[in-house]
Amino acid sequence: MIKKIRNVKIIGTGSYAPEQIYTNEYICTFVDSQPDWIYNTLGIKQRHIAQDDECTSDLAEGAARRAISMAGLSVDDIDLIIVATTTPDRMAPSTACIVQEKIGAFNAAAFDLNAVCSGFLYASTVASQFVASGMYDNVLVIGADTFSKIIDWTRRDCVFFGDGAGAAIFSHTADNAGFISSNLQADGRGKMAWTIPAGGSEKPTTQATLDNREHKFLMDGKAVFDTATIVLPQAIKAVLESCDLTIEDIKYVIPHQPSIGILKKTAEILGTDFSKFLTNMDRYANTSGGTIPILLDETNRAGKLNSGDLILFAAVGSGWTWGASVMRWA
Ligand SMILES: CC(C)(COP(=O)(O)OP(=O)(O)OC[C@H]1O[C@@H](n2cnc3c(N)ncnc32)[C@H](O)[C@@H]1OP(=O)(O)O)[C@@H](O)C(=O)NCCC(=O)NCCS
Repeated sequence: MIKKIRNVKIIGTGSYAPEQIYTNEYICTFVDSQPDWIYNTLGIKQRHIAQDDECTSDLAEGAARRAISMAGLSVDDIDLIIVATTTPDRMAPSTACIVQEKIGAFNAAAFDLNAVCSGFLYASTVASQFVASGMYDNVLVIGADTFSKIIDWTRRDCVFFGDGAGAAIFSHTADNAGFISSNLQADGRGKMAWTIPAGGSEKPTTQATLDNREHKFLMDGKAVFDTATIVLPQAIKAVLESCDLTIEDIKYVIPHQPSIGILKKTAEILGTDFSKFLTNMDRYANTSGGTIPILLDETNRAGKLNSGDLILFAAVGSGWTWGASVMRWA
């Protein structure tokens, strides 16, 4: 039932990554690449990689428990769980239901959302609507991925990705704070630029799809770079205009972490100093749904976010999907 429009803020954050680390140096022992090229071009030094028996819901569970603890809530207080992921534990049921069972949040509804690397941005915007409307008080949003499971480790584009999860609890506030504006966009004409060809209803698993490695992702790196450096600046400008702000009003941009090159180009197009853009891809690489909430959690736990600070989230992912949102931290 829709009751009223309320302000929506984040009351707890958490993150979790597998212990195992693959450095650039290690990957370059079995793939045709160079550690310096990876760091200088992509900004990546290492990535966390799940063990064979670790799956997306395990990482999501770790991040969720930490966010719930910071929020000072009990699992019974969670009304809805949204897991943004491209690498669910199984085709069905949703990873959100698996996480619900693992953390014991049995009062919560649960569903997954797939917007690939824009997943957390999409999920946080959806969560905000549920809280703003009054339908739910506390929504747990998790961005979690284990891309190591869909990487072809014989190809050099394996260097881009890592595994990890981040979570945030969205709740209501009487203060004049929280989410101010967001925009989400999509263009399905870009669907082949990053895709997993087989394993769905279009091409179910067969011996041939396994032999052809069609369960591993394919990426057109140039298309990603060219599109990201157009749509990210556009989305950021659009969301700022919608709330009558400029990029200089923003304390931190907490963006998706595709590569340092894409983010530097975005800052250049916006005409702002890159130091405003926070990054952690040096330690995590691109964790897809995990990038923004892991970075948010690190920033929050480092005490860098003060009440009243304006922060901006921005992401681009396969689909294409992209967008940006602005919030006043409270
Ligand atoms: C990957 C990227 C740097 C490649 O550049 P490109 O010009 O588009 O594509 P190319 O495959 O022709 O590569 C150009 C050069 O980059 C280098 N290169 C590309 N991938 C490399 C890798 N993994 N290791 C080392 N060198 C690499 C090579 O020197 C290559 O030259 P070559 O002709 O000798 O092979 C660029 O497309 C990019 O940054 N894309 C963004 C991808 C992204 O962010 N993905 C994550 C989100 S989905």
